[in-house]
Amino acid sequence: MMENNYYAQKLNSQKLFKVYETKIPRVKQYLDAEISFVRDNMTGSERVLELGAGYGRIVKELAGDCKSIVGIDISNENVSLGKEYLKDSPNAEIITMDVNNLTFQEKFDTILCLQNGLSSMKITSPDLIEKILKMVVSGGKVYFSTYSEKFWEYRLMWFKEQAEKGLLGELDLDKTKDGVIVCKDGFKAIMHTPKDLEMIGYLSGYEYQIQEVDESSVFLIIHKTLSL
Ligand SMILES: C[S@@+](CC[C@H](N)C(=O)[O-])C[C@H]1O[C@@H](n2cnc3c(N)ncnc32)[C@H](O)[C@@H]1O
Repeated sequence: MMENNYYAQKLNSQKLFKVYETKIPRVKQYLDAEISFVRDNMTGSERVLELGAGYGRIVKELAGDCKSIVGIDISNENVSLGKEYLKDSPNAEIITMDVNNLTFQEKFDTILCLQNGLSSMKITSPDLIEKILKMVVSGGKVYFSTYSEKFWEYRLMWFKEQAEKGLLGELDLDKTKDGVIVCKDGFKAIMHTPKDLEMIGYLSGYEYQIQEVDESSVFLIIHKTLSL
């Protein structure tokens, strides 16, 4: 799974850190709104797992709002930086693990797959979604978020900023359209439409809701209770 994994191979550790050091206020607002939305839905007693946690940016933000939080990431470089980044968050942990091979003994109350994680971790098959859902307790929740179509202009601005900082290759403006960002060095990021999210929710067999947040992200929240 590591082959052809741009984030793990080229955009990790300090580079990933710089991705999130954006100067664009609207992008900062998007990143904050995504975290606030999850925080506002937590009671404080949850054991949380974040998939594709990078160096622990979201893990650190949410550590004070839950019982415990574990981030997994496929990149050892991210996890090394993450251990340092999370050193003052005693209930937070970050470990190297591939989302395709989740090996936890205990289930979680909440699983997070944020910041367009379906695209960056290439989570496409219903089988993998099912495996993720198996890691949640009955009555627990899984949050997936992707970009809102209304955010396209700012998303594009953000990726141009990343390319200008040398974090990504130059944007291929002929191929960059309809929610897909393509760079000349092979980077590609897609997004899911609310309809795609609807299909993932429906196929899960559980209750789910789709919610737009801040006109920048769209969440699919699967509640692990059987739909009526
Ligand atoms: C866009 S970054 C998001 C990081 C973090 N969620 C955040 O918002 O700060 C996507 C992350 O997914 C990780 N990743 C990619 N493929 C993965 C996989 N198969 N299993 C676990 N992590 C993966 C990458 O290494 C990268 O850190």
